[in-house]
Amino acid sequence: MKVKGFLVNAALLAGAVASPTPDQAVLRQPTSVKSGHNAIETGEGHFSQWSRATKREFLIDWPAGRSAEWTIVQGNEGGDLDSMAAALTWAYHLEHSTANTSNPVKAIALLQTSTDALDLRPENKLALENARMSTGHSDLLTIDELPEDPETLAKDIKGIVLVDHPIALRKWKNAPVLGIIDHHQDRGVNETAEPRIFEKVASCTTLVARQMLDELEKLPEEYHLPHELLELILGAIAIDSDGLTDEEKTTEADRTTAQRILERSNWRKSDLDDKMQDLDEDLGDAKKDLDGMGLRDLLRRDWKGDLVDTPSPRTPTVGLGFSSIPYSMDEQIKKTEFEELFDWFAIEAAWTAGTGTDISVALNKYKIKDKHGKKQKIREIVLVVRSDVRIDQDQADDLFKTVKAAIDNEPTLKAKPWHKAGELGRNRMVWTHERSDAGRKVIRPIIEKAVMSWD
Ligand SMILES: *[C@@H]1O[C@H](CO)[C@@H](O)[C@H](O)[C@H]1NC(C)=O
Ligand SMILES: *[C@@H]1O[C@H](CO)[C@@H](O)[C@H](O)[C@H]1NC(C)=O
Repeated sequence: MKVKGFLVNAALLAGAVASPTPDQAVLRQPTSVKSGHNAIETGEGHFSQWSRATKREFLIDWPAGRSAEWTIVQGNEGGDLDSMAAALTWAYHLEHSTANTSNPVKAIALLQTSTDALDLRPENKLALENARMSTGHSDLLTIDELPEDPETLAKDIKGIVLVDHPIALRKWKNAPVLGIIDHHQDRGVNETAEPRIFEKVASCTTLVARQMLDELEKLPEEYHLPHELLELILGAIAIDSDGLTDEEKTTEADRTTAQRILERSNWRKSDLDDKMQDLDEDLGDAKKDLDGMGLRDLLRRDWKGDLVDTPSPRTPTVGLGFSSIPYSMDEQIKKTEFEELFDWFAIEAAWTAGTGTDISVALNKYKIKDKHGKKQKIREIVLVVRSDVRIDQDQADDLFKTVKAAIDNEPTLKAKPWHKAGELGRNRMVWTHERSDAGRKVIRPIIEKAVMSWD
């Protein structure tokens, strides 16, 4: 009877919201909790069991009207290993640290990518496999499995905790922000969140793990930290700090936190640097294994897009999206069907049309060897403004000019036109530059600022 009520509720709600997922998510739930009924192999580890039990409870609580009891811990929509590990760690901590108190917290990690987009991150797949999680990422709650659209769900839940991003995506804006732990630039929002931690470290998982250990060590009795979780944490820190060897990125906090985690893991007898370099190598090899991917997959595998308000009364909001691609523009062109410049922009346009993006920015990076055989990091910025989503041609021309000027005039970039910049069409530009740290964390605020000042 319970199951029946469940389905009826879900069907009613499915009619009330635009999302096609409610019935899918609910119908899948009863079979996926049993192993052996389908192709999914259920994970063996303690961590897998916890993840799975939490997901099950969340999906049962939703139609029963208990969403208000839940805190959703969310990483950013790029869904890299750092976001995934940070969200899982914090959700685990919130639940276990309050389990025996008068105020137990129900917390679940949400990956803001779809289930299939996770396949575009081979390093995540490997890390989950290492953590003895179920195949197909089925222990994890992903955005396409939410039984209700985020705009509506945001109003019902207790709140969200942001990890590895500084501000909630527009679709979650109605949710109370209960905590922020991040290593991006502080946008100064949600000052009352608790904890509210911004610190420049290689991996956001460092900040989450440090906070977890600090709080854990103060409890009257420590809860159990499964070794799979500890290993996942070390993997995330390793990949973001190049095994603690990247001097530009790695901080003392990354190192001391990794050491504290290592001491609690099954690897406690290993040397920290050896272990972190091993992990980085294994996960890094998986991460670099993108050679079989086409341009569309490269655009979507690390896509971060959201709406941005502008001061202009004519166009209060535009869609802005970023991709990060570890290949040069020339290599990417070779991955298109016709292997020509026009096709890069055709595939890109099909992707941004589907995501409803007005301004898209591809951030490419690759390495070349200089004449002394030394490796040099080169970065490219590709800017495209469309005139058929939210803005018309005149507005697109003007917005393009504004954003282009922001990049041309940014003194730290010294951006130069790409070698074929002369062949690009209207409202398209490609630059190269050599500011080695200028990934999305640096470029996104520059472009957002330009968009927000566009009138
Ligand atoms: C968090 O900050 C965002 C951006 O300023 C704002 O829209 C939202 O209402 C804030 N949420 C809470 C709960 O304060
Ligand atoms: C909570 O209680 C359970 C059952 O008594 C116990 O196993 C667990 O260690 C306790 N956790 C904490 C953090 O005190």
